[in-house]
Amino acid sequence: GTRTDLQNKKILITAGPTREPIDPVRFISNHSSGKMGYSLAEAAVERGGEVILISGPTSLERPAGLYKYVAVETALEMREQVLKFFPWCDVVIKAAAVADYRPKNYSGRKIKKKDAEMVLELEKNPDILKELGEKKDRQVLVGFAAETNDIQKNALEKLNRKNLDLIVVNDVTVEGAGFGVDTNIVKIIHRNGTIEELPKMPKKEVANAILDRILQYLNYS
Ligand code: C5P
Repeated sequence: GTRTDLQNKKILITAGPTREPIDPVRFISNHSSGKMGYSLAEAAVERGGEVILISGPTSLERPAGLYKYVAVETALEMREQVLKFFPWCDVVIKAAAVADYRPKNYSGRKIKKKDAEMVLELEKNPDILKELGEKKDRQVLVGFAAETNDIQKNALEKLNRKNLDLIVVNDVTVEGAGFGVDTNIVKIIHRNGTIEELPKMPKKEVANAILDRILQYLNYS
């Protein structure tokens, strides 16, 4: 049946990788496909939510029924758009794989190949989610963490540091979890320390499980 439990809820979702340009033809990025974030956006729309999807470059089709779609490339562009819409939201789900660093100097001309080695200097990107954690009032904040080791410890520390309500963790070294695939195996960690381990499921079902948890925080905060 059609659910309407997110009706009138304003939900901002970020998805995909960011791209950090080096010169007009090169960039630094990561393996994020955007599938988890897009599945969340689709599920939230189906449940009646007003959804803004802020997306880095992906090859996915834009979900139908969005309130707004914003395409971005870099972490700085994503930050600007997220901050612009943040005051409007009830929920923010940061499924995007934001690049932690960007090239310090962008070259307007294609960098020429030389015989010698070259060193690329990087500078830190702002942590968008951490900023939201500092600003938040009524918003339910959900982060993602792709971990390869000390998964629970790292995730709980991240949840606390960024002032999140929930963090969704996946071990990207396990088959059927994480980048590119249509399934995911996640743990959902709550701010009181409760850990729920979900079985391997299609990303759309993972999305609905996450939205179920968010609903608890919306109704009891
Ligand atoms: O610290 P880490 O990158 O592992 O945290 C992941 C979470 O933080 C994700 O939800 C991601 O979207 C968010 N993030 C962010 N800005 C960054 C880095 C990560 O919003 N610069």
